[in-house]
Amino acid sequence: MAHKITLIPGDGIGPEVADATVRALEATGVAIEWELAELSASIIEKAGTSLPPHVLESLEKTGVGLKGPVTTPIAGGFKSVNVAIRKQLDLFANVRPVFTLPGLKTRFQDVNINMVIFRENTEDLYSGLEHEVVKDVVESLKIITRYASTRIAKYAFAYSQKNGRRKVTAIHKANIMKLSDGLFIRCCREVAAEYPDIDYNEMIVDNASMQLVMRPETFDVLLLPNLYGDIVSDLAAGLVGGLGVVPGANMGEKQAVFEAVHGSAPDIAGKGVANPTALMSSAILMLRHLGESAAADRLQAALAKTFRDGAHLTRDLGGKASTREFTDAVIGNLA
Ligand code: NAI
Repeated sequence: MAHKITLIPGDGIGPEVADATVRALEATGVAIEWELAELSASIIEKAGTSLPPHVLESLEKTGVGLKGPVTTPIAGGFKSVNVAIRKQLDLFANVRPVFTLPGLKTRFQDVNINMVIFRENTEDLYSGLEHEVVKDVVESLKIITRYASTRIAKYAFAYSQKNGRRKVTAIHKANIMKLSDGLFIRCCREVAAEYPDIDYNEMIVDNASMQLVMRPETFDVLLLPNLYGDIVSDLAAGLVGGLGVVPGANMGEKQAVFEAVHGSAPDIAGKGVANPTALMSSAILMLRHLGESAAADRLQAALAKTFRDGAHLTRDLGGKASTREFTDAVIGNLA
């Protein structure tokens, strides 16, 4: 039976990278029935909300979404679409695998980087609880709960066990934020105790940032509260070629949304030169989530071969290929 998936191409380069990704997925032979949910800055403006009901209803129905970038309208105080989707569907785990792409020239090209970052997605300083205490003094509340901290820790450890990962590093600043980060770390320790086969260590976020740049190959699974997770996951993306190549997944109890983490790139939209690697890699995560591991492995290998060959890379990676030429090369390598 075909998998039912909500496809949100987005706007800007979104439809271009979504089209490329759908072609690559079709070439794997996996049967997918797409439910198209259009979303763009102008649809958001017209609907008066970042998350119009047709998108939410489709995701609630299918349980799985593949999402391109959506431009956040500048006027009107609209929330980011991603934040709205995460909140509405309680997608509590942001998962970002970060790994070296063979042949891709980066500052760290000689280092074998292979880590998975688990970022708590629902609380911390992103709860949006800010107020002005007295004139010119504002307070922003950092919310850390046992419930959310334990939930993300359990998710990261269960993933590690299932996927043969050996070490989980919890990242914090509990030396300063003794109560909030202290609770986060306590929850991580409690969950770690249930997984004696997996090494567990802790690192203060500033040191972790330095270690990530100096010794990125020593990291395996990273477990972080929301704010550090946001910053560290972009830092890590920078080690392997940037946001144009790393995949992302937002996972909940019932729904999962797989998305490219880059934006809608208005400067190159419509020119047919966008790099679809990030969304294709996110689609590989989606295939694994759907239980289509063989197809995921094949698409991963085809992408890796395209990078190793290096002849059909897009401009952002120093190549000359169009989105279509790159995608044709990936599909050719699937055979
Ligand atoms: P951006 O990621 O769209 O662009 C930054 C730079 O990276 C640009 O030079 C762009 O050409 C390049 N770039 C990004 N993705 C690329 C790709 N796949 N291939 C080749 N080059 C690529 O960031 P920016 O300009 O800050 O945001 C533009 C719009 O996107 C904004 O409205 C923002 O709110 C929205 N946005 C949406 C996101 C989402 O829906 N996931 C995430 C981030 C931003």
